[in-house]
Amino acid sequence: MTIRLKINDENLEYHGDPRASLLEVLRTSFRLTGSKSVCCEGFCGACTVRINGELVASCLQAVGVLEEADITTIEGVGSLEQINSIQRAFEEHDVVQCGMCFPGMVMTFTAFLEANPNPTRKELKAFMSGNFCRCTGYERIVDALLSITMKSKVT
Ligand code: FES
Ligand code: FES
Repeated sequence: MTIRLKINDENLEYHGDPRASLLEVLRTSFRLTGSKSVCCEGFCGACTVRINGELVASCLQAVGVLEEADITTIEGVGSLEQINSIQRAFEEHDVVQCGMCFPGMVMTFTAFLEANPNPTRKELKAFMSGNFCRCTGYERIVDALLSITMKSKVT
């Protein structure tokens, strides 16, 4: 089956099993390995992407229903040459350890801060409940995110 997808503003075609998860397709067919494969059950948030603007656990999303979908992955929100403000804040606050959770965290909070540019600590913690980090204290992650809200919008 052929499925046309727009991924990070690029028109692409997937040829294969429509039952494959979007995560598997991103990582194996398109070599977009930034979205991480951790729990593969929709709990940890490491595979979070945006589909038509909505946050989705790509490990649970069958690719077969995504014809013409507009997908954004971590590769579409920042690069080594041009990291986004959340990536910069995580770096500045020294919160990255193994890094497996961070692509999902960046995706989640890029969307969250777009919609809520001045969140409270409590709101940030509540929204973080879908993203697990097994290494870093969550308080430092929240500190990093709050530092961005002081500087206006996500860039
Ligand atoms: S790998 Fe998808 S939610 Fe954990
Ligand atoms: S830095 Fe290792 S899981 Fe978050």
